[in-house]
Amino acid sequence: MKKGIVLCGFMGAGKSKLGQLLSGMIGYRFEDLDEEIQKYESKTIAEIFSEVGETGFRSLEQHYLSQKIADANRVLSLGGGAMQSQSTVDAIKAKNLLVYLSPPFDEIIIRLMGSTKRPMLLKPDGSQKNVDELRSEIRTLMDKRTPFYEQAHITFRPDPEWSPMRSTTNLLQSIKSHEYEV
Ligand code: S3P
Repeated sequence: MKKGIVLCGFMGAGKSKLGQLLSGMIGYRFEDLDEEIQKYESKTIAEIFSEVGETGFRSLEQHYLSQKIADANRVLSLGGGAMQSQSTVDAIKAKNLLVYLSPPFDEIIIRLMGSTKRPMLLKPDGSQKNVDELRSEIRTLMDKRTPFYEQAHITFRPDPEWSPMRSTTNLLQSIKSHEYEV
């Protein structure tokens, strides 16, 4: 049995895509925390936010994370806001190799422009923000979250020119050179 791998990083960092590819490459199970929440709650993330707000969503997120935190032989992709306290970082790191995916800021903006399924990036009336509003919202959220992301065992900076496959191959290299045997 091998310690699990957890991927953290901002929305649009590629956690789900790379997590899925990585798990395939090393023969681990793949889980995406948002998908798990939606499955167990039988609701979309947007429905949960509209029913119980961000605070309610965060408690569900912490609840399901705590249930999955100690699983071995699996890659778990977190939602971008799942790691916002020191105790969460410490609990994840105690049982997993924690990897921070950090593509360039502008790449994140490009990926998130036009995203309608992320309530954190919409206006209170549900409409989309323009690019300047989006940049400033993302900057604010990132400033709050980056100190937690940066405590990961590994920080991986995918080059936007790389294909998802190449990014994942390079990510696996970083993981192996961190004395983590797969
Ligand atoms: C959130 C990120 C989303 C999802 C929810 C809130 C956030 O996941 O958990 O919309 O606060 O950063 P992704 O990072 O997979 O988009």
